[in-house]
Amino acid sequence: MQFETILQENNGPIATIIMNRPDALNALNIQVFKDLTACLLAIAKNREIRVVVIKGAGERAFVAGADIKEMADIKGAMSSERSYLGMHVYDLLRHIPQPVIASINGYALGGGMLLAMACDIRVAAEGATFGYPEIKLGIFPGTGGTILLDRLIGSANARAICLTGELFDAPRAYQLGLVTHLVAKDALVAETARLAELMAGYSPVALHETKCALNASLEMAFEAAREAEVAAHARCFASNDRFEGMNAFIEKRSPDFRGD
Ligand code: COA
Repeated sequence: MQFETILQENNGPIATIIMNRPDALNALNIQVFKDLTACLLAIAKNREIRVVVIKGAGERAFVAGADIKEMADIKGAMSSERSYLGMHVYDLLRHIPQPVIASINGYALGGGMLLAMACDIRVAAEGATFGYPEIKLGIFPGTGGTILLDRLIGSANARAICLTGELFDAPRAYQLGLVTHLVAKDALVAETARLAELMAGYSPVALHETKCALNASLEMAFEAAREAEVAAHARCFASNDRFEGMNAFIEKRSPDFRGD
């Protein structure tokens, strides 16, 4: 599939989405949200793809936030429409069956930090820069950005990040638990590939159901989340992959997961 603002490269079971507006530091405009929606919906249905990676084009940015030049012209109800378009993308990232890795180099600001947070795993190069600078523009990250940050790293630090708008470096993001893997800049590609290949070898059913359980925990109250987890676990037990995984262990061989 061809897109105006993103590229998709498939390499065996791994699909890489490249945010491709380097002249605007890969800023998110409405077309980006539309392209990401179409791309992720197609990936969700493609059983050949077992892991997704998202990265930015160029050396300077993952994504430097929402497109401020486009936002400057937004009036009235259009702001909420834009929020829903963005939120749909972030929801898709969490809910597609495949695990999604954000491979972060350079700026991951505003909606760019949120895009990374909607992924399952965040690998950052040491020189990456994070933050929610929206407060300096007279707004705040209103596409679910306050909520997701609060739930991922806790209220105290989320408030400081949203209200001060101060940028912070990758070691600080790692310390906050915002980034799950921190590597030297020249190791980013290899570490991203290592994690992608690792998960591409697992049962797609188990990966999907694990995401379902984690999503339930993020999105639901405790009792309801536990019910959702029991149901997701039962779906794993009903899969051929779990017989394969357990038999492979007993027979001392590598499993061959088929995704059913
Ligand atoms: N929206 C639209 N364009 C953006 C952008 C954004 N969020 N971030 C960067 N750009 C554009 C710049 O306007 C510039 O375009 P130009 O060459 O046509 O003027 C180009 O990308 C390069 O950015 P520039 O600001 O010149 O680079 P820099 O190294 O001086 O600064 C940043 C880098 C990231 C600190 C700075 O671009 C910035 O603060 N961007 C906005 C971040 C932000 O507020 N994000 C949240 C938005 S809600």
